[in-house]
Amino acid sequence: MKHPIVLGLQYGDEGKGKITDSLAKQSEWVIRFNGGSNAGHTLWVNGKKLVTHSVPSGVLYSHVKNYIGAGCVLDPVSLKKELSEIKQSGSSLGGDRLRIDFRAHLTLPIHIALDAAREGGSKSIGTTRKGIGPTYTTKMDRCGIRVGDLFDNDSLKDKVQFLCNTYNTLIRAQDLAESSFESNWSVVELAQELLREHVAYDPTPFYDVAKTHKCVLEGAQGVLLDLDHGTYPYVTSSNTLASHAAAGTPFPLSRLGAVIGVAKVYMTRVGSGPFETELANEDGERIRAKGGEFGATTGRPRRVGWLNVDELRLAVRLSDCSHIVLTKADILTGESVVKALSQGVLKEFPCWKAIYKDDAKTALSPELESYLSFVEAEVGVPIVGVGTGADRADFFWRGKTPDFWG
Ligand code: IMP
Repeated sequence: MKHPIVLGLQYGDEGKGKITDSLAKQSEWVIRFNGGSNAGHTLWVNGKKLVTHSVPSGVLYSHVKNYIGAGCVLDPVSLKKELSEIKQSGSSLGGDRLRIDFRAHLTLPIHIALDAAREGGSKSIGTTRKGIGPTYTTKMDRCGIRVGDLFDNDSLKDKVQFLCNTYNTLIRAQDLAESSFESNWSVVELAQELLREHVAYDPTPFYDVAKTHKCVLEGAQGVLLDLDHGTYPYVTSSNTLASHAAAGTPFPLSRLGAVIGVAKVYMTRVGSGPFETELANEDGERIRAKGGEFGATTGRPRRVGWLNVDELRLAVRLSDCSHIVLTKADILTGESVVKALSQGVLKEFPCWKAIYKDDAKTALSPELESYLSFVEAEVGVPIVGVGTGADRADFFWRGKTPDFWG
């Protein structure tokens, strides 16, 4: 058996959570391989909204186990809030339903302070200020605190002290208030309590599991925000490509199969960085309002623009996608035109007046179909499904639903 990867093909916020949720229904594990509390995956079920940040999107099915891989970073304060919101929504994540790799790094107050210090200066890139970049920095610098360190009391205080001493120099250099050892230590103590039942120590838990149990690998952010292959320096600090699914998890490489890339029928971006098709005008404002394009994590208004098919093709190639899902087709319904940049030229298409051809809802409207066919031909990978609304049920498979575990 091989297992699918779900990832974003743009700048995050493509609606991946909903696709992972739909695959989760048929699977036993959802495994996250990158990012931290900067992510925001919105799930709508029966009109109720749940936003997850660090917890994988298998959360809503009680039969699904969720795994946070070593390639992720974890903010204990944010996770505590998230777990309590999940509980309020009626799901519960005991130790057997949420496993956290002991090698994942913790985001502590000093990382958040460093992010704020950097963003407050002249070299701001518009991060989520969740401390993500600094957490990956201290990981690379080999002085970060890992989840497994929480339960090694002999050296933990020294490690936290060293981290604070080393990195407070950067904060002091900007005449800002240091992040005290005490404030970091109190989050460490919270993490000890919160994470104890969830820590996974088995170094190869999926080696055998992947032979018989259906799994889904879930990416955060999007290909164009990848640290190495994205629009550097306007990128996140982790790797978002499909190739990182095996690097950021203890998942056997030979068991990875379908790569499902998710993109919107238009585009959004939060934070700074190039955006060739941006609509910095009333058209962009209208689509932003219709699409609810405000950050799930920060509430910031997202920049809105037309689909850049050239970037989509690049993202699909970088992640070797086998399938594409386009989301939010309903948001453009009724626009006078829809545009897409391809081969460097902004092309115009008649927009669809309705999603479906007729009330039977067995076929998409001809205008939407011809737009999808154009994108598909330009990118060279099948568009297998279309998001038609916010709810879990609002989805259309174009043709037979693929078997992603084939
Ligand atoms: P960071 O990941 O907080 O360091 O932010 C780096 C860049 O990635 C900024 O432009 C953020 O807005 C963007 N970013 C990070 N996570 C997400 C996400 O989940 N959705 C959309 N943009 C994101």
